Amino acid sequence: MIVTRPFAPPDIPEVIRIVEDSLRENYPPSLYLTVHNLWREGFIVLIQDGKMAGFVAAVPNGNNVARVLMLAVLRPYRNRSFGKRLMNELFSSCRAKGLDTVILEVRKSNRVAIAFYERLGFTVYGEMKKFYSNGEDAYKMMRVLET
Ligand SMILES: CC(C)(COP(=O)(O)OP(=O)(O)OC[C@H]1O[C@@H](n2cnc3c(N)ncnc32)[C@H](O)[C@@H]1OP(=O)(O)O)[C@@H](O)C(=O)NCCC(=O)NCCS
Repeated sequence: MIVTRPFAPPDIPEVIRIVEDSLRENYPPSLYLTVHNLWREGFIVLIQDGKMAGFVAAVPNGNNVARVLMLAVLRPYRNRSFGKRLMNELFSSCRAKGLDTVILEVRKSNRVAIAFYERLGFTVYGEMKKFYSNGEDAYKMMRVLET
């Protein structure tokens, strides 16, 4: 069975495992609580048969914009539309909150994610030099949600 639901604090260990595995980052647990407290419906986890397969975390960014901070699906669960499902859930949360634009940053080298976001209707609208801690540049991507 596959379900999506808002993140809850007991999810932190599983989220940390996905971030380490799929994003190769290591953030303090308090970061997840901060994001959760900023917008509960913008931090969504996908559970298959009781195990977390992926999540998306976004925060409001100004009046009508949501900014995706993290999106990851564990390797064995990829290419099963889980990423798409998480993003579609996020779009629903955006509409419910009156946010009509979604923005994000992605590593220029992350061809898989860029292709994934383009399939979802995102386009590149800018770049950020040396955005990542290793000095890599980011593309800025956005999608306007139809009402
Ligand atoms: C990017 C990521 C979240 C995609 O998740 P996923 O569950 O595998 O993606 P989905 O199965 O939902 O794919 C959705 C669409 O994107 C396309 N897509 C997915 N992976 C792709 C790839 N490797 N190449 C081209 N297109 C791809 C699919 O074809 C699909 O299109 P369709 O619905 O028309 O068939 C996943 O690869 C991941 O976690 N990567 C590592 C972390 C990461 O890079 N996160 C983004 C950081 S900004």
